[in-house]
Amino acid sequence: MNFTSTLTSWYSANKRNLPWRTSKIPYNVWLSEVILQQTQIKQGQPYYEAFLANYPSVQALAKASETEILNLWQGLGYYSRARNLHFTAKYISETLNGEFPKNYKSLLTLKGVGDYTASAIASICYEEAVAVVDGNVYRVLARHFGIDTPINSTEGIKQFKTLAKSLLPLSNFGDYNQAIMEFGSQQCKPQSPNCKECPLITSCNAYATGSVKILPVKLKKTKVTKKYFNFLVIDSDDQKTYLERRTEKGIWQQLYQFPLIETPSSMSEKEFLAHLDGSDKINIHYEKALLFNTSDIIHKLSHQELHVKFWILRTKNSPENAVKWSDITSYPVPAVIERFINNFQI
Ligand code: ADE
Repeated sequence: MNFTSTLTSWYSANKRNLPWRTSKIPYNVWLSEVILQQTQIKQGQPYYEAFLANYPSVQALAKASETEILNLWQGLGYYSRARNLHFTAKYISETLNGEFPKNYKSLLTLKGVGDYTASAIASICYEEAVAVVDGNVYRVLARHFGIDTPINSTEGIKQFKTLAKSLLPLSNFGDYNQAIMEFGSQQCKPQSPNCKECPLITSCNAYATGSVKILPVKLKKTKVTKKYFNFLVIDSDDQKTYLERRTEKGIWQQLYQFPLIETPSSMSEKEFLAHLDGSDKINIHYEKALLFNTSDIIHKLSHQELHVKFWILRTKNSPENAVKWSDITSYPVPAVIERFINNFQI
């Protein structure tokens, strides 16, 4: 058996029973693939189920409010994907009469749909002969064929796409694409792959040359900048706090947060309180300020490393447009703030 047929038969025996595999409805597949670009299957499945339960069709998703969608997306990160999902649902529902584009090329014209998502939908739903290349596929191909071209270089992207295309079977493209992804996530895992029980062991170049651990190669090209975030958590006697909405471009666009003061470094309590007294970020008198987390919470994003402090400001009165603590979960917030809220409220 060659590479392709080995993977296909491995998949028949080992595939997980996942809800988006039972039908080939483009809306469902699109939703699942967009979510799975953000997280692994185990973590992504509950999000998929929640989205489908709330919005069973593209029309239902189109009619939802952005806040509702961001709320359901909460915790997945990279919120522009959720906004693109909404934008594209409205476009399909209103401009395309609810009909999904029916091939790779026209799928690519949708906002938020790139080579990966278009290939996945076209192969799974329409049996088009296109190859998906995600992180799993890069890893399986790099190891099996012993390729050390960096997977995030222009040359690597082209080389792996060409190879992936050349390995497509004669039919059942959707199953084959899911087979190679599933094989990457369950068998040829990033750390501790199960080489001992691998059906491709005899033809695996990386196994033969002892390079499983060093493949695939990825260039480190993004510079990570450190930022120091101080969230001001008003806690008033009438059980309210205050949230602001992030409108600027960049991380967490349209999500809510406690009023934020960014500082050039991590400040001590004394330094920060002096800084706060000279700031007009909040114009309410506070009785007492205390630092909730004594060591900074480190939150890593793709290009930034956030060092986060939450400052509790006890106040007698609440500011105008304050939010009741009991209503706080109806506001979409970044994961780091959600975790703080859960800890603070117990
Ligand atoms: N990872 C992302 N999408 C997948 C799919 N459809 N099957 C297996 N793994 C995946």
